[in-house]
Amino acid sequence: MQHTPSTITPASTCGQLSLPRLPLCKTSLPLDQIDYEIPKTLLQEICQLLESAPQLCFDARTEAPLLQDISKRGAGELLLQRSFGAIAGIAIAGSYGVRGIVTHFWPPPGGLGSELSSIPLLQNVLHALRERGIRRLHVLVNDQNKSTLQFWRGLGFAECPGERLMQRHLIGIQPPQHPHPEIDIRRLRSADLDTLAELLPSVPELAFQPWELEVLRDGCEDSGRAYFVAEHAGQIVGALIGGTFGIRGTISHTWVSATCRGRGIGASLVEAALHQLRENNAKSVHLMLTPGNDAAYQFWSALGFQEIPGETFLELDI
Ligand SMILES: CC(C)(COP(=O)(O)OP(=O)(O)OC[C@H]1O[C@@H](n2cnc3c(N)ncnc32)[C@H](O)[C@@H]1OP(=O)(O)O)[C@@H](O)C(=O)NCCC(=O)NCCS
Repeated sequence: MQHTPSTITPASTCGQLSLPRLPLCKTSLPLDQIDYEIPKTLLQEICQLLESAPQLCFDARTEAPLLQDISKRGAGELLLQRSFGAIAGIAIAGSYGVRGIVTHFWPPPGGLGSELSSIPLLQNVLHALRERGIRRLHVLVNDQNKSTLQFWRGLGFAECPGERLMQRHLIGIQPPQHPHPEIDIRRLRSADLDTLAELLPSVPELAFQPWELEVLRDGCEDSGRAYFVAEHAGQIVGALIGGTFGIRGTISHTWVSATCRGRGIGASLVEAALHQLRENNAKSVHLMLTPGNDAAYQFWSALGFQEIPGETFLELDI
């Protein structure tokens, strides 16, 4: 698949993105072809380069098989930038719940001249994710990496004031035990989407975006996603939208109908999702709380999530 970044016209959420249009000097290997195997030597080379940058925290032992898996399932993009045949840039990005995420970007931001060489690579990431219907992109940056933060901010990525980032490690996750015989916790089906389209946009705490419905539609049949609903007497009374990318899991939205809250339905949805994320090899799960959502903070705390100090979640509308 050939990328044509000249069609990208991104705009940022909180800042102003002004990516100059630069000619591409790269070879891209989009991993959206089923059965695409990354050749072993290429995989080794990519892993060595990513491991050479400690701030990327890339552990080839756990991540290389998942990279291959992402590739085969078509769940993500591996973009390589080449200069005189050698790899000069690597970006790994994909769908994360209903959003996009860049998990690895090499050479790491902050290196000499890296901003200039990184822009064409990033343009291709944006383009590839837009082709997947994704309109919002995240990066997670350790606050110690000032130059990395500066790099992403310089490209228009921004944290939204007041948003809180929470995390839970997925150790010891058990298969879900549904405590509500009358509530069916099941996977989202495409037939449910019209109902969700009516319900979710009006929930102020969710900041659900209309374009996310199309991402949901595409992902309904994908077991790599953690899309669940709670059904009671034929009515949808709750929904959870999550997913994994490599070893990282996320929950993008969780909602229970106002008349059914406080009965453990939210907890049951989360239980089902965490098990699914763990099955899909996620090691941890992240989520963002909209500003001032203290009830949700209590909810997630009760379910073992903790606020992460020292990490910044940056986002960009693309
Ligand atoms: C957050 C939400 C999904 C919780 O769903 P729920 O079905 O009511 O939650 P549960 O009954 O499973 O609650 C599980 C635990 O979370 C905690 N909790 C849930 N709601 C709480 C609230 N409003 N205040 C304090 N603690 C709360 C409790 O400890 C509860 O356990 P307990 O009832 O045994 O004390 C639901 O309130 C909702 O849809 N809110 C609007 C959308 C939203 O804010 N989503 C989260 C966005 S990040």
